[in-house]
Amino acid sequence: MRKPDPCVLVIFGASGDLTARKLIPALYEMRAVGALPSSFRVLGVSRRPKTDDAWRDELAVSAREHAKRFDAGVWREFAKCIHYFAGDAARPEMYDGLRERLAQLDTDGGTRGNRLFYLSVAPELYESIVQRIDEAELVTEGKRWCSIDPSARSWQRIIIEKPFGHDEASAASLNRSLGRVFEEEAIYRIDHYLGKEVVQAMLVLRFANTMFEPIWNHRYIDHVQISASETVGVGNRTAFYDGTGAIRDMIQSHLLQIFAFVVMEPPATITADDIRAEKIKAVRAIRPTTAEDIASHAVLGQYAGDAQEGAYVDHEGVAKGSTTETFAALKLHVDNWRWAGTPFFVRSGKRLAKKRTEIVVQFKRPAANLFRGTPHTGGAVMGNRLVIEIAPFERTRLRFESKVPGTPLTIASVEMQVDFDKEFGVEPLEAYGPLLLDAMRGDQSLYKHRLEVESGWAAVMPFLGPGSMAARQGIASNYAPGSWGPAAADELMSSDGRAWHND
Ligand code: BG6
Repeated sequence: MRKPDPCVLVIFGASGDLTARKLIPALYEMRAVGALPSSFRVLGVSRRPKTDDAWRDELAVSAREHAKRFDAGVWREFAKCIHYFAGDAARPEMYDGLRERLAQLDTDGGTRGNRLFYLSVAPELYESIVQRIDEAELVTEGKRWCSIDPSARSWQRIIIEKPFGHDEASAASLNRSLGRVFEEEAIYRIDHYLGKEVVQAMLVLRFANTMFEPIWNHRYIDHVQISASETVGVGNRTAFYDGTGAIRDMIQSHLLQIFAFVVMEPPATITADDIRAEKIKAVRAIRPTTAEDIASHAVLGQYAGDAQEGAYVDHEGVAKGSTTETFAALKLHVDNWRWAGTPFFVRSGKRLAKKRTEIVVQFKRPAANLFRGTPHTGGAVMGNRLVIEIAPFERTRLRFESKVPGTPLTIASVEMQVDFDKEFGVEPLEAYGPLLLDAMRGDQSLYKHRLEVESGWAAVMPFLGPGSMAARQGIASNYAPGSWGPAAADELMSSDGRAWHND
């Protein structure tokens, strides 16, 4: 794999939580394994005046807490490449100073004019910062990649955090604004779920084996569940969350990305362009949900309170009578030859029974059941089930039917399990680290294309618009903390004779 190019990572919103809890610990981990470019600098931009040393000291505390295997010696070496620039990103005059500081870092650090801008600021600032970057002429070689001619060209790329837009129209507008300044191949729409090992491992599972792909379709698969459940509530993020909700926060972004890896056709090659072309087609194939279908295809909920935490509607910062969903379960159909007739159930919620992210591929029962009269410890022959756990454990489980040793003939369902940590003896890395390295080497495979984002929004818009009002009525406190969501979510499955995988 190509070494990442020398560069300066310029973080706008450097005082934020994301920088301290995720970005810096992830970069430190990359440094600890020797994966960072030899010439590398981080320049944090934020309003509060601070020296480089003061910022390094602050970050050391959070890196110690959040990075795996913190080593003070490695940190000291790494911290030398961390710098701070005090300035208000909303003010044009700030950018002259920023340009000078970047030039200085190039001279001192050999970073060759390569810039990776990271927008970790409030989304309403994205467009204006991009415009200021352009006006300050900080993008000089946006079209060029170092890989084309490493000695001659510098590059400037931009990483945009989620939420990417608030709806289909605002996402398209943000895409246009970015496109006026950066080429598509310099725009990196980040989704930390794409940095989770198991999401990429889907490609290997599906396309490096012969036993799954031939049956990976509507003829053999009854349905697919993609779930991300959390035990925590919205905490102190109500200002953000009440205008967002589970569909925007989790489904449009993270879960539709996982969905795309399950649904996509084999790419022609394992390159970013080919992978993303197939993912775009997968998300575009989601059938638009009609107004009449919303009631039977969506269950929305809000958590009630308990001794630990108040109900969602009682949190400070939540609008009175808010109908923002903290839980959503959607039934989606994919209109293509592979998946016609196989529904996809996508579910996410806060304050649920377990913290878990997983894909459940439920195969059909055997076409001819020879064992109808045979005792089965679980009641009856079940369809095979492949459970791909993404978090908190990275493991894959395959359920199949087996004879119970002894007589008389009895059947039981058994499971084979592969636990990736144990199997390979490696702990998963913080997702941001490998993603940042990819951006430094110009690899967009695990970043979202403009069309994926816009198609994802198009797919969820029916569940967010006026047509969803009926589904939102009476959602206040309609599920108990520690449960699996509103009872209606179970009915969404049981009405078709299916059930959520909650074990
Ligand atoms: C974030 C959402 O993108 O993902 C949060 O904004 C959510 O609401 C988080 O808690 C979940 O991420 P993970 O990696 O813990 O599953």
